[in-house]
Amino acid sequence: MTIHRITLSINGSSEQVDVSSNLTLLQMLREKLALTGTKNGCMAGECGACTVMLNGEPVNSCMVLAVECDGAEVLTVEGLAKDSVLDPIQESIIDQGGVQCGFCTPGILISARALLDRKPNPSEDDIREALVGNLCRCTGYLRIIEAVQEASERQLQTASGD
Ligand code: FES
Ligand code: FES
Repeated sequence: MTIHRITLSINGSSEQVDVSSNLTLLQMLREKLALTGTKNGCMAGECGACTVMLNGEPVNSCMVLAVECDGAEVLTVEGLAKDSVLDPIQESIIDQGGVQCGFCTPGILISARALLDRKPNPSEDDIREALVGNLCRCTGYLRIIEAVQEASERQLQTASGD
């Protein structure tokens, strides 16, 4: 099996990683970099537990080959908090009780962050659409949706200096 050396930015840090041709981005994150916040739910692009941002867009990391990420920027759930301060979506999902078993949570946080980056004041339909690929077996989604709405309000307040 051919081994490729790739260089990429992960959560703001430059990393060089030796990867085989068939290694997925999800496997690289978990097995080579010990970034186990990103979960493996199905390895088939169905559940969204493995969602990370790749060059600013949410992707199922189980469906992306690591070699395709040479030169890319990747954001995982470990990179959401800055200087030990939680991202507004992390604070809100805790406040709203949007975490039960937590298996889906890292992927949901990344999908929600991508939405809020793109659309700071999303409608409920926007939120439902952004999270359509993230399956949760526990919460019924309502609290997660409320968490995204709350995070949006927090962000807008911070931006306006209130
Ligand atoms: S593990 Fe990637 S979509 Fe389920
Ligand atoms: S909190 Fe358990 S799957 Fe979502």
